[in-house]
Amino acid sequence: MSVQISPSLLSADFARLADEAAAVSAAADWLHVDVMDNHFVPNLTLGLPVVESLLKHASIPVDCHLMIEDPDRWAPGYAEAGAGSVTVHAEAVKAPVRTLRTIRAAGARAGLAVNPGTPVEPYEDLLPEIDMLLLMTVEPGFGGQRFLDVVLPKLRRARAMVAAHDGEVWLQVDGGVSEETIERCAEAGADVFVAGSAVYGASDPAEAVRALRAQAEQATARAPWSR
Ligand code: DX5
Ligand code: ZN
Repeated sequence: MSVQISPSLLSADFARLADEAAAVSAAADWLHVDVMDNHFVPNLTLGLPVVESLLKHASIPVDCHLMIEDPDRWAPGYAEAGAGSVTVHAEAVKAPVRTLRTIRAAGARAGLAVNPGTPVEPYEDLLPEIDMLLLMTVEPGFGGQRFLDVVLPKLRRARAMVAAHDGEVWLQVDGGVSEETIERCAEAGADVFVAGSAVYGASDPAEAVRALRAQAEQATARAPWSR
């Protein structure tokens, strides 16, 4: 169980995606890509053609977070294109078992995301079908929002749920994760940390990733769940 950092390109310069990816590649574990369709969330970002181009330039695996309607239709394409991880939202997916299996069959890790107001307990039976559970710590749609502490009790419950399960499921947090909040997330049970503005808003993004990792590792070491 080790800390992983996934910088969100949503806070990067979209006209220089390859350079922005390269800026964190020596320090980060993943490149988090936020796909938004202006329907599931009130914002529009990028889609498969841009991800396909990014994949040609990325030297670390790409973590696709699909904030879109009908992920059953679109998610497999991201896995087939070579994304290392593809996450669909529980609120949008209609055939989760089929879609998660299709993602895995295409060679990617399968993730399931829940919004701040969505409980995790109804998805316990899906744990064998997923490699990562993403707990949104802001309402999805925009970078730079304030971290929602209200999600922390759910994060503790999710950690207990995952610990009681045989396989290994990573617990990702996304939204408002920064030097102010990352320790709370690690202590509550997260092991994969998405950070957008905290990384790309820093003068040295790679150094910001390293600093966040150090904080998360220290907080994990003292966390009750990691003993
Ligand atoms: C929000 C996105 C996040 C976003 C996080 O809906 O899913 O990945 O980029 O940005 P920060 O870290 O600035 O909250
Ligand atoms: Zn995201």
